[in-house]
Amino acid sequence: MMFSLEGKTALITGASGGIGSALAEAFASAGASVALNGTRREVLEEVAARITADGGKCVVLPASLDSVGACQKLVADTVESLGGLDILIPCAGINRRKRIENVTEDDFDTIMLVNLKSVYFLCQAAHTIMKAAGGGKILTIGSMTNFRGMGMLSVYGMTKAATGLVTQTMAVEWARDNVQVNCLAPGFIETPLTAAGIFGDPVRREWVLSRVPARRPGYPGDLTGAALFLCSDGANFVTGQTLAVDGGFLTGGSWEQD
Ligand SMILES: NC(=O)c1ccc[n+]([C@@H]2O[C@H](COP(=O)([O-])OP(=O)(O)OC[C@H]3O[C@@H](n4cnc5c(N)ncnc54)[C@H](O)[C@@H]3O)[C@@H](O)[C@H]2O)c1
Repeated sequence: MMFSLEGKTALITGASGGIGSALAEAFASAGASVALNGTRREVLEEVAARITADGGKCVVLPASLDSVGACQKLVADTVESLGGLDILIPCAGINRRKRIENVTEDDFDTIMLVNLKSVYFLCQAAHTIMKAAGGGKILTIGSMTNFRGMGMLSVYGMTKAATGLVTQTMAVEWARDNVQVNCLAPGFIETPLTAAGIFGDPVRREWVLSRVPARRPGYPGDLTGAALFLCSDGANFVTGQTLAVDGGFLTGGSWEQD
């Protein structure tokens, strides 16, 4: 029961993507009613159809999170559709892999907008609802760039490191509102975001796999157990943490097995 989400309501952005859709399906299976946000309505409808076929409850709320107003409206629409908001996972994210010399103002602003500004204002709006209801859980999404500088990921890395930091600030400010805020930091996960840019490129694929002790890509399903834990009553005294789920990438490496 400690890990059940029965009776809970959850908003997951990026729910048409590889990781967000897996989280949405897992949370619905655990009993939550889930609001699915993303930019592609038709993909959200496919995720919703799988959830419904499995006996779960969900609503589809497509929107581009490109303004503070859009973030506030999405939270308001979730509350109106589901009757509340107990869990927020701002999972929408984008990347443009470039060396620093080639990053344009548009690259900088666009990545910042989706990966950081929308996360900040979604959390702000969700907190108001959660505080009034007596508590809630927020799970932000980080990355290996919370811990390591990685080539071609300067702006993306800034957004993820800042997300990890603001997770701690929110955890501190909102602890007495019974709102726990944690960050899940996935390792290298095979999704549309990494299909071409990492796993579809033999050199980059080999670079990654040679550094992950598990010697395999992560899959979205590898993240669901940790996410469920951090959004369940089992984590009521866990806040401000960043949990890496990375097949051992950050832990180290060994030459003895290769
Ligand atoms: N795949 C990985 O290896 C990996 C590793 C670490 C962190 N992450 C993070 O996990 C999250 C999900 O990544 P993914 O691999 O599933 O990516 P994905 O490309 O499969 O999905 C991205 C999602 O974000 C949504 N999105 C993009 N721009 C949006 C906007 N303006 N408004 C609303 N939604 C928008 C898309 O609709 C899509 O649903 C991202 O925050 C990403 O940075 C991914």
